[in-house]
Amino acid sequence: MYNVQIIGTGSYAPGNIVSNDFLATFMDTNDEWISGRTGIKERRISIDENTSDLAIKASIKAIEEAKINPQDIDLIIVATATPDYFFPSTACIVQKKIGAKNATCFDLSAACTGFVYGLNVATQFIKSGQSKTVLLIGAETISKSLNWQDRKTCVLFGDGAGAAVLTRGEEGIISIYTGSDGDGAEFLEYAAPQLRNIFTNNSEESNNYLKMQGGEVFKFAVKIIIQCIEKVLEESNYGIEEIKYIVPHQANIKIIESSAKKLGIDKEKFFMNIAEYGNTSAASIPLALDQMNKQGLLQDGDKIITVGFGGGLTYGAALIEWKNN
Ligand code: UT7
Repeated sequence: MYNVQIIGTGSYAPGNIVSNDFLATFMDTNDEWISGRTGIKERRISIDENTSDLAIKASIKAIEEAKINPQDIDLIIVATATPDYFFPSTACIVQKKIGAKNATCFDLSAACTGFVYGLNVATQFIKSGQSKTVLLIGAETISKSLNWQDRKTCVLFGDGAGAAVLTRGEEGIISIYTGSDGDGAEFLEYAAPQLRNIFTNNSEESNNYLKMQGGEVFKFAVKIIIQCIEKVLEESNYGIEEIKYIVPHQANIKIIESSAKKLGIDKEKFFMNIAEYGNTSAASIPLALDQMNKQGLLQDGDKIITVGFGGGLTYGAALIEWKNN
C-alpha cells in the first residue's frame, strides 16, 4: 500500500469583487448584518467564466507547483455542485484543456464536502495502486444557483476554485473520515430540472435555486465539525495540541468560533479566508489550503486537519502531514 502526498496546490477566483455594500444597493441588507452574522465582507462573482474555467486556472497552478507533466495525471476528480453540464463532466473539460490525455475523469457530488470526499477517493485510488498521480479540484460558480431575491442565502456565497495534485509519497494523508446523513437532505438543496417527458404535463417554470434552512445547517455544522475532528485524531493517535492548523469549510465565522470553544482550542488554529471569498462550497477548503501554502504557513512535518460539511447532508475530515515539494 502506498502513502499519499499533496505535491502541488493552486487556486483561482474571478476578478469581480462584490462587497456587502454593493449587495445593499439592490436588496434589503447591510454590511453590519452580513459581516456581523457570518464574517463575510466580500465575495467573487463570475461574470463570464464557468466552473470549468475556474477549475482549469487553479489546476494549471497546482500542476506547475507539482512539477509534473499533465500527461502524468491518471485521474481527475472535480468536486462541484455547479458543473458546466450534467455531461460531459467538468473533469473531462479540464482534461481536454490541460492536455491530461491519460486520465480517467469524473465529477463528484458532495456539495461543500466535495473536496474532502475527493481526498478520500483519491487516497483509495493511490493506495490501491490503481492511480499514481491524481488532480483533485473543488470548483464552483455557485452564484448561478442563487436566488438574488433571497437575502437569507445569496449574501453567503461566492465563486472560486482550488486544486491539489496528489501522488505516492512517504508523508501525507494519515487518516480520513467521511459520512452522510440523508435525513437532513431538505436542509440544503439545489434542485435539478423537474421530471419532464411525454407522460407528464409539466409546464411549470423551473424555480431551481439553492435553498437553505440556515439555522438547521448551523446546528449540524457545529456538531459534525467536532465529531469529524475527534474521529481523525482518534484514528491517527494524535492529540489536538499536535495539530498546527485546521482548514475548515468556510461557511460562517460563528460556526468556527462555536466549534473552537467546544473543542477548547484557540480559534486562531482555524485558518479563515471567509471575509474575502464568502462560502465557495466545494472550492473553499482547497482555496484556503492553497493560500496557506503560498503564504508559507505550512512547513514540513506540520499536521493539519481539513474538515468539511454541507448539502446531503455530507461531512468529512482528513488529517494530513504536510511536506513541501
Ligand atoms: O456550505 C453550506 C453551509 N451553510 C451554512 O453553514 C450556513 C449555516 N447557517 C448560518 O450561517 C446562519 O443560519 C445564517 C447566517 C444563514 C443566518 O443567520 P441567523 O442568525 O440564523 O439569522 P436568521 O435566518 O434567523 O435571520 C434573523 C433575521 C431575520 O429577520 P427577522 O425575521 O428576525 O425580522 C431575517 O429576515 O435576520 C434577517 N436576515 C437578514 N437581514 C439583513 C436574514 N438575512 C439577512 C440579510 N440582511 N442578508
